[in-house]
Amino acid sequence: MRLSVTLAYGLALSVAVSEVTSTFGILPRDLAKKSLASEIWSDIENAATCAACEAVLLLLKGVADLGDSAFVATLTEICDLSGAEDSDVCAGAIALEGPIIAHDLRGMSIGSKTSELFCITFMGLCSYPAVASYSVPFPSPKPSTSRPAPSGQTPIQIVQYSDIHVDPFYVTGSSTNCTKPICCRDYSTSDDPGNNNSPAGPNGDHNCDAPLSLELSMYAAIEQLAPNAAFSIFTGDIVDHAVWNTTQAQNTLDINDAYGHMSGLKLVYGTVGNHEANPTNAFQPAAIGSNSQWVYNLLSSIWTQWIVANASAEEQSFGGYSTKYPSGNLRIISINTNLYYVQNYWLYESTMETDPSGQLAWLVNELQAAETAGERVYIIGHMPMGLSDAFHDGSNYFDQIVNRYSATIAAMFFGHTHDDQFEISYSSYSAQSFSTASAISYIVPSMTPTSGHPAFRIYTVDPVTFAVLDATTYFADMTNPAYQTTGPVWTKYYSAKEAYGPSVMPPLTSANAELSPAFWHNVTTAFETSPSAFSEYIAHKSRGWNVASCTGTCQTQEICQMRAARAENNCVVPTPGINFKKRAAVGQDRTQKRDECGVSVTREVLGRMVGRKQLLEVLEKRARETN
Ligand SMILES: *[C@@H]1O[C@H](CO)[C@@H](O)[C@H](O)[C@H]1NC(C)=O
Ligand SMILES: *[C@@H]1O[C@H](CO)[C@@H](O)[C@H](O)[C@H]1NC(C)=O
Ligand SMILES: *[C@@H]1O[C@H](CO)[C@@H](O)[C@H](O)[C@H]1NC(C)=O
Ligand SMILES: *[C@@H]1O[C@H](CO)[C@@H](O)[C@H](O)[C@H]1NC(C)=O
Repeated sequence: MRLSVTLAYGLALSVAVSEVTSTFGILPRDLAKKSLASEIWSDIENAATCAACEAVLLLLKGVADLGDSAFVATLTEICDLSGAEDSDVCAGAIALEGPIIAHDLRGMSIGSKTSELFCITFMGLCSYPAVASYSVPFPSPKPSTSRPAPSGQTPIQIVQYSDIHVDPFYVTGSSTNCTKPICCRDYSTSDDPGNNNSPAGPNGDHNCDAPLSLELSMYAAIEQLAPNAAFSIFTGDIVDHAVWNTTQAQNTLDINDAYGHMSGLKLVYGTVGNHEANPTNAFQPAAIGSNSQWVYNLLSSIWTQWIVANASAEEQSFGGYSTKYPSGNLRIISINTNLYYVQNYWLYESTMETDPSGQLAWLVNELQAAETAGERVYIIGHMPMGLSDAFHDGSNYFDQIVNRYSATIAAMFFGHTHDDQFEISYSSYSAQSFSTASAISYIVPSMTPTSGHPAFRIYTVDPVTFAVLDATTYFADMTNPAYQTTGPVWTKYYSAKEAYGPSVMPPLTSANAELSPAFWHNVTTAFETSPSAFSEYIAHKSRGWNVASCTGTCQTQEICQMRAARAENNCVVPTPGINFKKRAAVGQDRTQKRDECGVSVTREVLGRMVGRKQLLEVLEKRARETN
C-alpha cells in the first residue's frame, strides 16, 4: 500500500506506509534532513494549516511508533514546557489518555478523514471533511401523523438535573485560587485551610467542583419544590474534573455514592456522562474491545431499580436502554452519546465506524416499536448531538432518525455544556423555519458551580402527550449571604414560557400550550430582532453569573447553534491552536474559559504546540532521536 501526502513544502512524499517505520526508521528518508519544525511553523504562520497538521502528525506518529511509554514521556515533556498544566496534572492526565492517542496514531493514514478529524479536535487545524453519505435504514416509511395536540388535562411535573461533578476530596477552607482544573482541595500546604487567603466555603465555589453538601441540598430542594414529580431525568457526569487522577475504583465509589443519594427522588432515569469513564471520555465501542464494560455493568446494576428488566441487554452492552414509564404512555430511551463524542479517543480508528456498538440501529428498532405501539418517547443523553463536540457523521445519522420519528419523539433532554441552552432539529436545514422545526432538545445547566450558579429544572408536562408545556429553572444564588452559612437557598430563576412566550408572534402564554419545536424556532427569530430577549437568554445561560456581552458574530454563532441539533450546521469553524487557560488565568481573562466538558490535557498540549515553535522543535527532536 502506498500513501501519498502532499505537504506544503514543495515536496511531494510518496512512501510505503510500512517503510515509514521499518526501512527508514521513524521518519521517511526525504524528511530526514529537513527541519520540519521550521517548515511546520512557517505553514502555520501562512495559514496552510492542514499541511502543517499533517506534518505534525508525521512526527507524532514517529513518536507513537516508539511505543506508549515514549509517547507519554514526550507529550509530558512538552506539556511541562508549555505551561498548559501543573506537572502532576501533565503527568497524570497524559499517562491516562496518551496510550489511546498513540494507538490511534499508529493506525492512522496521514491525509485520511480520521487524520483530518484528529487535526481539528487536537489542534484546531484543517477544515471539517464532508459527512460520509449514509441513509439510515428504516423498517417503514414515515407516516403522515404529526405532533398530537395537547390534551388539556392537568399537567404533571418532571425534573431534570445534570453534571453534578461531586468532588469527594473537597476541603472546606482550602484555597479556591489554584492552577489546576479544579480547586478546593488540599493539594499542598499553601492550599491547606488556614494557609491561604481565599478559603473555600462549605457549600461550593465557582473554581471548584461540588461538595457533597451542595449535592444533598439540591436533592432536598427537588423533593421540597416538586414533591409530586412523576420522575427525574439525570443526564450524567458524576465524577469530578480531577481527570489527571481518576481510577476505576474511585469512579465506582463516586457513581455508587451519587445514585445512592438520589434514592429519595423515587424514580430516576439516568444516562452515562463522559466523566463516568476511566480514563475520562474513553468509551471503547464494541468493535474495539470491552474496556468500558465495567461502567456499563455498574450503571446497569444501579438503573435496574428504576427500569423494567427487559432493557438490560443494551444497558450492559453499550450503556443505553429503552424502558416504559409505568404510569403513562411514555417510553424513555437513554442513549450513550459518548459513542459520538470527539474527545472519546477510541473512536479515531483508521476507518471510523458508521454505527459504533450498533446503537443507532437499536435506536431505530426501539422508536419503530414505540411508533407501532402509539407510545410517546423522550430521548435522554449526556451530550447534545448538535455541538461541535459531536462528530458530524454520527450527528447526521442520529438526526435522520430523529426526523423519521419526529411525530413520536415528544422531546429530548441533554446536559454536558453546563450552560442553559436548547437545540432545534429541522426536517430541512436548508429551509429552517417554524414549519420545518421537527424536534427540540432541552439542555439543562449544571449543578456544579464552575460555569454559573448551581441549577436544576422542573418541566410542566401534558400527562397524555408528554409535550413540554413549560420549563422552569431553579437555582441556588451563590451571592446570597446565606449560601455558605445556613446553606444553599433554591429559588425559581425563570420560566421559559414567561420569559420567551411574550416575545413570539402570536404570543404563547396559555398554560396548556406546548413549547413546541415551532415555538422554539420562533424564539430564535425573536432573538434576532429583539436585543432584550436575546440578552435575557445570554444571562440565563450562566444563571446570571459572569454574563459577557454577546453581539455581532457572537450572537450569530449562538443563534446558529440553537438551530443546529445536527452538528454540521452549527457554524463552528476550527480555530488554530485551541488554547484553554489555566484556572488562575481564567479569573483574569474572561474571554477564555477552561474546557469544562472534557478537559483533555493532551488536546491542550497539542493546541499549544501549534502556537509555539519551540514546542514543535522538542517533538521533532524526540521523533528523530532513535532514527
Ligand atoms: C491567585 O493567586 C495568584 C498567584 O498566587 C495571584 O497572582 C492572584 O492575585 C490570586 N487571585 C486572587 C483572586 O486571589
Ligand atoms: C487522587 O485520588 C486519590 C483517590 O483515588 C486520592 O486519595 C488522592 O488524594 C488524589 N490526589 C489528588 C492530588 O487529588
Ligand atoms: C420485553 O421484551 C419482549 C421481547 O422483546 C417484549 O415482547 C416485551 O413486551 C418486553 N417487555 C417490556 C416490559 O418491555
Ligand atoms: C411561529 O411564527 C409563525 C409566524 O412567523 C406563526 O404563524 C406560528 O403560529 C408561530 N408558531 C408558534 C408555535 O409560535
